[in-house]
Amino acid sequence: MSGDVVKIFDTTLRDGEQAPGCGMTVEEKLRVAAQLEKLGVDVIEAGFPISSEGDFQSVKLVAEQIRGCEVAGLSRANKMDIDRAWEAVKDGESPRIHTFIATSDIHLKHKLRKTQDEVLEIISSAVKHACRYTSNVEFSCEDATRTPVDFLCQAVDVAVRAGAATINIPDTVGYTVPEEFAGIIRTLKQTVKGLDNITLSIHCHNDLGLAVANSIAAIAEGARQVECTINGLGERAGNASLEEIVMTLKVRNDKNPYGTGIITEQIYPTSRLVSQVTGVAVQPNKAIVGANAFAHEAGIHQDGVLKERITYEIMKPEEVGIPSNKIILGKHSGRHAFKNRLEEFGYFLGEGDFEIAFKRFKDLSDKKKYVFDEDIEALISEEFVRSSDYYKLVSANFTSGTDMRPVATVKLLIDGEEVTASEYGDGPVDAAYKAIEKATGESPSLHSYVVSAITGGTDAQGEVHVRIEDDGVFSQGQGAHTDIVVASAKAYINALSKLRWRRQHPKVASANEGV
Ligand code: KIV
Ligand code: ZN
Repeated sequence: MSGDVVKIFDTTLRDGEQAPGCGMTVEEKLRVAAQLEKLGVDVIEAGFPISSEGDFQSVKLVAEQIRGCEVAGLSRANKMDIDRAWEAVKDGESPRIHTFIATSDIHLKHKLRKTQDEVLEIISSAVKHACRYTSNVEFSCEDATRTPVDFLCQAVDVAVRAGAATINIPDTVGYTVPEEFAGIIRTLKQTVKGLDNITLSIHCHNDLGLAVANSIAAIAEGARQVECTINGLGERAGNASLEEIVMTLKVRNDKNPYGTGIITEQIYPTSRLVSQVTGVAVQPNKAIVGANAFAHEAGIHQDGVLKERITYEIMKPEEVGIPSNKIILGKHSGRHAFKNRLEEFGYFLGEGDFEIAFKRFKDLSDKKKYVFDEDIEALISEEFVRSSDYYKLVSANFTSGTDMRPVATVKLLIDGEEVTASEYGDGPVDAAYKAIEKATGESPSLHSYVVSAITGGTDAQGEVHVRIEDDGVFSQGQGAHTDIVVASAKAYINALSKLRWRRQHPKVASANEGV
């Protein structure tokens, strides 16, 4: 890639995590942060430290442990938030305070109940306060795209004079369109003196499906930092997707002559990790990382791709790290081959963990003739990547068929004790879920249940994603197994464990509140 460099600011751990049910534990955030570092992002926004003790801890640990990138903590534009954000990031190699306040009339009137002058005053003192700690201060005008542009220029001017090194222009509600957004960026560049010496950033939400297009339009006008998330995770319709922006800049570098520091081969592993940790499935037709992104179903396309791939493929799956579906291991593969494969994935397990993984692999290869990269990845994720579940499935047995009433018996490990429960249901999954509810004493509503095959073949592992809700608290879970009822039980148990964690770690402040 050539041209000016655009900084990639990843906010999966902050804005992505704000999506209902996507909260991550401290351990999970650390794992995702380590992968983001491998991916080559410039800035990791690790959380909103004042929002909860868990968020504070995760931002602190990410800042302490991550080296190759800047680590930012979000704060509203007040001293307490800024102090807390600094406390969390200060031990990082390259810490950043990201402070924000809304500037649109709608937010001023209904949320902040403040005048424009009062907001300008708050911006000035908040940015100056943050600059006492570090010169690496970013300021965002929340709801910038619905802000009268002359007031937006004034707000940005005040923040620049107060010392902000980065100014971020968010399309908070995903309302703008590319031409309009490009115009806003152009006006800011032409009007605000001093903007040439600082980094202009953009942050787009996807409510109209335009987050990536808007981001690209703004880059063409001089934005040199783009805020985005893996898989486009985020509140409502999500944020601009990192993988789509990066690959647009790479594949269409002729029209967008800008480079990034992203190691594109790490895109797919990062996408999978985020999906597994959050329990949020990636839609099959999602650009770049969806299961169908490189699948050629129609006969005419298959024929074309076989003759010459560029007939229907504008990039190679390997470029974004999608495994080539090659058979990697089978029933007779030994310890050595398995270890090598894990290390190729970047998993260097200690002896004890390796033995656990090898046993899981052997169990799987007894059930499946061929074990693919994706199978290994699912196995490792469940065992070592996401936080260990509070509820653990020891065994699940069920019977069902056309002539009998489905029944399931599950044995769970809860706090070191085995609990067994049996229930009847409409089908085996319903019976298993009722038995799990009996064993755990939980009865959330099931909002969604999605099953897909991890690889091809009738012996493929099924991957189940569920989304549950109890009393306004959301949670998502994921499970994989060659038996889809067992995969379903695992997904439900994973979601219930996260629900429990979320109840214990409520957010006490939200980025959608006032100042
Ligand atoms: O969407 C938004 O406006 C934000 C800000 C806090 C940057 O996420
Ligand atoms: Zn946002």
